[in-house]
Amino acid sequence: MSDKPAVLVARKVFPEVVQRLAQHFEVEDNPTDHIHSPDELRARLQGKAGAFVTLSERIDAALLDANPQLRAVCNMAVGYNNIDVGACSARGVLVSNTPDVLTETTADFGFALMMATARRITESERFLREGRWDRWAYDMFAGSDLHGATLGILGMGRIGQGIARRGALGFGMQVIYHNRSRLPADQEAPIGARYVDKETLLREADHLVVVVPYSPQTHHAIGAAELARMKPSATLTNIARGGVVDDAALAQALAQGRIAAAGLDVFEGEPQVHPQLLAQRNVVLTPHIASASVATRRAMADLAADNLIAALTGGVPPTPVNAQVLGR
Ligand code: GLV
Repeated sequence: MSDKPAVLVARKVFPEVVQRLAQHFEVEDNPTDHIHSPDELRARLQGKAGAFVTLSERIDAALLDANPQLRAVCNMAVGYNNIDVGACSARGVLVSNTPDVLTETTADFGFALMMATARRITESERFLREGRWDRWAYDMFAGSDLHGATLGILGMGRIGQGIARRGALGFGMQVIYHNRSRLPADQEAPIGARYVDKETLLREADHLVVVVPYSPQTHHAIGAAELARMKPSATLTNIARGGVVDDAALAQALAQGRIAAAGLDVFEGEPQVHPQLLAQRNVVLTPHIASASVATRRAMADLAADNLIAALTGGVPPTPVNAQVLGR
């Protein structure tokens, strides 16, 4: 019997990262990448001091109660709405996430998705692949410009600021944003970002990007009423979380031409996608890959591992979510 603590790596990750963990822990990994049901996850965690998890794993009070030996849950994601942090804190379980390492990669992707949406890239590619391109036409796949347009950002955290920088400095966009709190003036000034209320954001944005974390407060932050306030020529891009946008209301708004187009990397109930969204031509759909560059996914896995190693070997976890449990 080893005296190393036991940990679960809930999904398939870089073998090098599993090997690093194995220097410190008895590791149960998941090379077949089976997605555990809640019952399976509960069973797999029996006897484990730590868990390396992803957005596919739900960590709730029932699971914690069934595994009172668990001391650390390290998420390979910046968002952690899959984890009941309150329940973890109440039981002294450390939670960590992977901020910063994915900011620029995710901002790149948000910008790419917004561009693909505004310039109808996937819609026109489908047309070409279907063999329907037989002539030039003055209005063929005419979209809307990004340069010089008004970029609206809902949620001005690190990723929102990364998108704002790209828009202002690279594309000469006017940046407006709404957030729980206003940025300090020295952060607004270099990108000329203007803080506005949500009404103004919806009314003035030519391209609206949603980057708020999911919480009960941000559930359906963009629903039918908000979509109705946007310009009919506007685009909406969601790289935040499914549930921040009301997908059924969005599908209806797209079908009725209430807004021009949408770019979505996240969905309510993913990996399922609302059938009415799949049926629209004017929506770009990607499978939750905003942070998926090879280098960034590796940095995220390493950071989750660093947190797990520190949490269970007496070190200081670099990116805790509930730092208050440390030293208890
Ligand atoms: C991905 O969605 C993340 O939260 O890192």
